[in-house]
Amino acid sequence: MAKPRRGDVLDLTIDDLAFGGEGVGRVQGYVLFVRGAVPGDRVRAKVVEARSRFGRAVIESIETPSPDRVEAPCAYFGRCGGCRLQHLSYAAQLGFKEKQVRDCLERIGGLGEFELRPILAAPDPYGYRNKMEFTIVRGADAPEIGLHQADRYDVVLDIERCHLQSDTMNTLLAELRAQARARRLSVYDQDSGAGLLRFATVREGRRTGEAMMNIVAAAPDVETLTPVAEELRARVPALASVVLNVNAKKASVAVGTEEHLLLGRDHIRESLGGLTFQVSASSFFQTNTVQAERLFAVVEAACEFEGNETVMDLYSGTGAISLLLARRSRWVYGIEVSSAAVADAVRNARENGIENCTFLPGEVRHVLPTLMRDGVRVDVVVADPPRAGFHPKALNALAALGPARLVYVSCNPSTLARDVSDLVRQGYRLEWVEPVDMFPQTPHIEAVARLRRAS
Ligand SMILES: C[S@@+](CC[C@H](N)C(=O)[O-])C[C@H]1O[C@@H](n2cnc3c(N)ncnc32)[C@H](O)[C@@H]1O
Repeated sequence: MAKPRRGDVLDLTIDDLAFGGEGVGRVQGYVLFVRGAVPGDRVRAKVVEARSRFGRAVIESIETPSPDRVEAPCAYFGRCGGCRLQHLSYAAQLGFKEKQVRDCLERIGGLGEFELRPILAAPDPYGYRNKMEFTIVRGADAPEIGLHQADRYDVVLDIERCHLQSDTMNTLLAELRAQARARRLSVYDQDSGAGLLRFATVREGRRTGEAMMNIVAAAPDVETLTPVAEELRARVPALASVVLNVNAKKASVAVGTEEHLLLGRDHIRESLGGLTFQVSASSFFQTNTVQAERLFAVVEAACEFEGNETVMDLYSGTGAISLLLARRSRWVYGIEVSSAAVADAVRNARENGIENCTFLPGEVRHVLPTLMRDGVRVDVVVADPPRAGFHPKALNALAALGPARLVYVSCNPSTLARDVSDLVRQGYRLEWVEPVDMFPQTPHIEAVARLRRAS
């Protein structure tokens, strides 16, 4: 059979899930990505794109549903860009993520001899997020607050309830919408630059119950927004902080250049692994508290501490890993490019009475060689880089540092495979990998890899 053409309607058996969560069907080896299809489905699908090596098709009808197919609980599923796997049983989601990690390590990294440990499932596959960021847009006749439609950054769905956040966070979202409508607040318009409201970020300390609303607006209109904050608190007593961030620039980002406290404290608290963290409007904090705690327990076990180790935490963010490991080691050096995150880490160390950590601002590829020139020697390195993984110079510096044990925390199996493969070439052995499901219902995959210096 010839390569399918645009407009063809085909019967397809879905045999895999692609990285982003689309179903994969094949016609004589030609791959078709089918959104909304899951492995085991037999679907009738129409080809909407036919490139030379792969194409895309949309489901016309599901002829035989996969045994792993479940009813998605969310009314916005299929349109919202937030969750892509709600139609797949949680057990099958876990299997998919485990397989993705194995495939990447084997195919991209050429790595074969390692133990792939079973994925650590999340105890709460819904309602697990402690932070959600919503966009505010002008609706047909009133402000709407929600999430972007899948693959459409110009379309925002007015979300009444998001299943990934708690009831308290959903109530805050609904109240903000009600306030914006009742008070006829204006919404920012990117073309004209007029209007006030832009984004709303809701946070909740899952262990403390303290909630935060961060309103991003185009102007420092404290007078208009303070009564909104007060009304929100009247409805949700757990609201400990309402912050106004001002972003007057065109760039559509939920980060402001100036901050005004509208109500309560400028931060909320969250506890994780027995430590208390202050989380402010601009702080990075792991978005799944419960599963982050379990991820870090895996990291700590992987370090195999005897109690006198010097540790380096590369890409240390606001210091969660450093501070947790400091309790078990002699000294921890954290390296992090964001000076705001470094300031948060220093403050978190002080608040928790931890004195054996040094946080250094700068890029790993620059700071690591400097530390080595200063004679710093380390026993264990933990690295939690962003999705892009290591810069080649940072990876070479790490190999030159040559710690006996290396624990790599990754949110991207492709770059994990690339970097581990490089480290293996530079004298390390990959011992085991343990995927951890931090983001159920989404295709995001986190994994911990444990390496040991072999030569
Ligand atoms: C996945 S986060 C790590 C979070 C951290 N483990 C925590 O729990 O707070 C990655 C961090 O790497 C930082 N980063 C990105 N590029 C960097 C670089 N070249 N050098 C140092 N830090 C970098 C980011 O600012 C971010 O905080």
